Amino acid sequence: MEWPILKLAPTVVAPRLRPKFSVHSVTIPLPSYHQPVLPNFSVRLATEADIPTLHALIESSVRILQADDYTPAQIEGALGTVLGLDTQLVADQTYFVAEIHYSSAAKIIVACGGWSKRKTLFGSDHAAVREPEFLDPATDAAKIRAIFVHPDWSRRGLGTLLLATCESAAKSAGFTRFEMGSTLTGVPLYKLRGYEVIEPIAVSLRNGESLPVIRMAKSAER
Ligand SMILES: CC(C)(COP(=O)(O)OP(=O)(O)OC[C@H]1O[C@@H](n2cnc3c(N)ncnc32)[C@H](O)[C@@H]1OP(=O)(O)O)[C@@H](O)C(=O)NCCC(=O)NCCS
Repeated sequence: MEWPILKLAPTVVAPRLRPKFSVHSVTIPLPSYHQPVLPNFSVRLATEADIPTLHALIESSVRILQADDYTPAQIEGALGTVLGLDTQLVADQTYFVAEIHYSSAAKIIVACGGWSKRKTLFGSDHAAVREPEFLDPATDAAKIRAIFVHPDWSRRGLGTLLLATCESAAKSAGFTRFEMGSTLTGVPLYKLRGYEVIEPIAVSLRNGESLPVIRMAKSAER
């Protein structure tokens, strides 16, 4: 199935002039804070062919952007297990990539992130805990999963854009609440977007270290 490519104008607009964009055939009002300050770019669903690029992007995002929040030992222990790609999301078509367009032929992936209709709260294919059972949109919160921005492209609105894209897609699948296991690095962004802290979680790592993550949640805006 062909998914529509989502394209946004790069300029910041006043909230009054909110444009609209379309993803998953759902029209989403686009508040001004979702407008990255970037050249031409688009968001699309990730494909299997993107997987090697995503592994590399996630590793550099973790090593550089999380360096103020976690020690080198925590990062070594978490990469590839707690912090990494869950290819189930790619297979489920709930994982997105943001691409910068240098020309019609030259595009590079600069950020990724997804959501899930399955119970797993966080972690890659190789995480110790995997809960592939499906959630019930009527009673469960959709999981927001694995948002990673390339360090060269941070603080330009891409994390916000991917979060909004995931929330919209989960909402169109019937979910009314969202939940995540956030890294310490992600907490300021998620708080800004209305998420509340539920509880801290200490994740045991394979090298004997422990990684603090924060369970956060919010209700969908109606
Ligand atoms: C967390 C992350 C996804 C944020 O992505 P981003 O594209 O830089 O975020 P945005 O540009 O959308 O940020 C929007 C606002 O959130 C807040 N924010 C984002 N990152 C922040 C940080 N590191 N420290 C403080 N505030 C931050 C700021 O208010 C920011 O607005 P500003 O840049 O105008 O001050 C990115 O830092 C990242 O990939 N980190 C490593 C991977 C990770 O930990 N991901 C979270 C997984 S749960």
